Amino acid sequence: MDSPFDRAFYNALPKDFHWGTATSAYQIEGAAAVGGRGPSIWDVFSHTEGKVRDRSNGDVACDHYHRYAADIQLMKDLDLEHYRFSLSWSRVRPSGRGNVNEEGLDFYDRLVDELLAAGITPFATLYHWDLPQALQEAGGWENRDTAFHFADHAEVVFRRLGDRVKQFVTHNEPWCVSVLGHYIGEHAPGKRLDAAATLTSAHHVLLSHGLAVDAFRASGVEGEIGITLNLLPVYPATQSPEDLRAARLHDVFSNAWFLDPLFKGAYPPELEDLFGPMPREVRPDDLAVISRPIDLLGVNFYSYNVVERAGNAGNAERSGELILPWNSVAPEERVTDMGWPVSAPTLTDMLLRLDREYTKLPIYITENGAAYEDQPEDGQVHDADRIAYVKDHLEAVAKAILGGVDVRGYYLWSFMDNFEWAWGYTKRFGMVYTDYATLARIPKDSALWYAAVIRAARAVAQG
Ligand code: FCB
Repeated sequence: MDSPFDRAFYNALPKDFHWGTATSAYQIEGAAAVGGRGPSIWDVFSHTEGKVRDRSNGDVACDHYHRYAADIQLMKDLDLEHYRFSLSWSRVRPSGRGNVNEEGLDFYDRLVDELLAAGITPFATLYHWDLPQALQEAGGWENRDTAFHFADHAEVVFRRLGDRVKQFVTHNEPWCVSVLGHYIGEHAPGKRLDAAATLTSAHHVLLSHGLAVDAFRASGVEGEIGITLNLLPVYPATQSPEDLRAARLHDVFSNAWFLDPLFKGAYPPELEDLFGPMPREVRPDDLAVISRPIDLLGVNFYSYNVVERAGNAGNAERSGELILPWNSVAPEERVTDMGWPVSAPTLTDMLLRLDREYTKLPIYITENGAAYEDQPEDGQVHDADRIAYVKDHLEAVAKAILGGVDVRGYYLWSFMDNFEWAWGYTKRFGMVYTDYATLARIPKDSALWYAAVIRAARAVAQG
């Protein structure tokens, strides 16, 4: 399969652009009760009736814990050069604090060694939503202590893997932890409509990020650390003051809530218009910790929105029962299997805006991809929609780079179909198909296409 890009596309990218793919621990590892791993909030949540669409859980998932060597071999066969994975906190520390489970740490040790032996550079996420259940029982992210336990945990990981892993992100998508976990209730721990818990959990996640950055600097590890945010470009339907205000509030809800404290050391004032006054737990001094200098920003990007003021159509957007002050009117002629509207140019807009308003730091697209339900036919999976999605978004990245944004890499979500949280195994994001009955992996057309892109990029970079 030929690369669909012309030379100008590759020339736009930095020579050492990171071509990668991403996964997370709970979504692929399985082995939930193996090797001394303690339970996480996702074990408890997924085993609770009514929380996951297909009543599934991550007990086995893709069984990556046992099959990691074959998975890495497949990554190598697909010419992947970089791999973003997350560590299960409760595998490393079964109750979140105290005893370190050496067997759990050994797993990540072997994973990293195997990657390096295959010529694949590891990029580690410290938290991808699987809080140790024991910490949840002590209040979870609403408890300030959790932030300090996270930093302790991070330190253990830095000391053990920091000689070989040179890039870390502390958190994956704090918005999801806070809003999906404490307001909408779609994610663990499944709280609903608790504005104080939503604000407090977001704050403690951010605080824990800053504390982990301090721990990283103190560890003396030579490497880079940052955070990954899910960002959503929001456009007003018209230029009327009401629509502009609706778009601004949605932007605060989805983006500024996290970008502002990290890069400007303050929360956007409109946050109070959405959730009410900041709780006491938000101590002003924390903002200096949250905004500690970092080395890179991870951006997860999937979709965008267009909004008009609530009331125009009489059906203001509902999140749980929170009536958000806008109506979504994004065109739906091109949506993924998640129902998420697709518009790659909005990724270029978002990247240009980050550069203009927030940071000149190196940016990595730590996730981008799409769910489509294509099934195998004679051992092949023809996922043309996914190829089109990734191609358009890669072009959008190149455009941002030509516009001056320092984007250094792209990690396709996901390496293989996996446990898609509240959707269970019903949504397939992988470039590799997972047959859940046999656990066989079948590279989809998109994986072969992506490999061709990577080979072409390598050829151009080598002149
Ligand atoms: C992101 C998550 C990732 C996966 C994709 C589809 O929000 O980080 O785990 O669920 O969405």
